[in-house]
Amino acid sequence: MAPASNNEHHGLADIVAGNSSICTVGKAGKGLNYRGYSIEDLSAHCRFEEVTFLLIHNELPTQATLTQYQNKLKSLRNIPPALTTVLETIPPTAHPMDVLRTAHSLLGCLEPEIDFSQQTNIADRLLASTPAILMYWYRYHHTGKRINTNTDDETLAGYLLHLLHGTVPEPLHQQALNASLILYAEHEFNASTFAARVTASTLSDFYSAIVSAIGTLRGPLHGGANEAAMALIQRFPTGNNVEQGLKKALANKEKIMGFGHRVYKIADPRSPIIKHWAKQLISTPEAQGIFDIAQRIETLMWQEKKLFPNLDFYSAAAYRFMGIPVPLYTPLFVCSRIAGWAAHIIEQRHHNALIRPAANYTGPDQRHFVSIDQRTP
Ligand code: COA
Repeated sequence: MAPASNNEHHGLADIVAGNSSICTVGKAGKGLNYRGYSIEDLSAHCRFEEVTFLLIHNELPTQATLTQYQNKLKSLRNIPPALTTVLETIPPTAHPMDVLRTAHSLLGCLEPEIDFSQQTNIADRLLASTPAILMYWYRYHHTGKRINTNTDDETLAGYLLHLLHGTVPEPLHQQALNASLILYAEHEFNASTFAARVTASTLSDFYSAIVSAIGTLRGPLHGGANEAAMALIQRFPTGNNVEQGLKKALANKEKIMGFGHRVYKIADPRSPIIKHWAKQLISTPEAQGIFDIAQRIETLMWQEKKLFPNLDFYSAAAYRFMGIPVPLYTPLFVCSRIAGWAAHIIEQRHHNALIRPAANYTGPDQRHFVSIDQRTP
């Protein structure tokens, strides 16, 4: 037999898989910067569009450039009729992540990338149209309405909430979602971004790389954790039920969704920011109850396992307080992370090398071939 599996770097942990100038994650166990700017500064002072511009075009925009860029994004919110037909056909029971994966694949057929000079225009198109696609499907199947996705909303955060609820959103909700989109926009070589880079490294088209990323983000160990975190919080009727229930879950070796991280060792720097916004958004006793349960879980997880909440944990509470349905939590992550994926696809293409690692073989040594009539069960 070949040697046992090399488990030293399980799941490629700590392996440096390439160079990138987009983002630093967890230097000294914490901290997150996009192109050198801290997420504390970006989320406190920027519109999401300033950050997407920074990620895709390397620098923060001037006011004039931002206005031009936002106008361009506004002009790209239309959905082609062939796509609205498909969105109406996909059943309401489908997971919205499957809807987005399918829709981006179809968009790649309707508006294909002919050559790489189109890549930043495609990135802009996807940033602008993904919220439209998601909300068109959602509203059609849940309210029976065919919504007009061409609105005057200036920001993507306001646009998303407007399309979802059908009313102009409260400024506080817009600000909170804006901060959340900034926090979700980029995270170095995480699983979905790496999947996008692997696809891009074969010189495939932009849409294929995005579709790979969406499929990878869907899982509960990655983007799906924000939906799973809300399911966890809802397991407990009150904060008083947390201790017994959570200790039992930990004793059963259950993974507690929204906690822990592959790279951060001390804390997830995004968590206190989104927790702050979740707290600001509390406007009912029910919301206060959910927030209290979440805090009890946080305290106990640290006490029992020294595990801290990651971005997904309090994002779940913040989204709930904005009236966002749970199945849309991970798709909202897509609306934001498209910026990071796009930046990485562009960077990968700029210094491309096919990504093709090696495996540590653990199967049988070479064997004599046995013809089919000689094989025994
Ligand atoms: N709940 C309970 N235990 C956890 C845990 C969690 N959320 N996260 C890690 N652990 C424990 C593991 O059980 C394991 O314990 P063991 O050594 O006794 O077996 C140890 O910590 C290492 O965990 P592991 O899953 O091997 O670490 P990883 O680096 O591969 O995983 C995550 C990182 C993010 C996948 C993991 O923390 C996790 O599954 N978290 C929940 C999902 C989540 O929130 N994902 C979003 C990430 S932003």
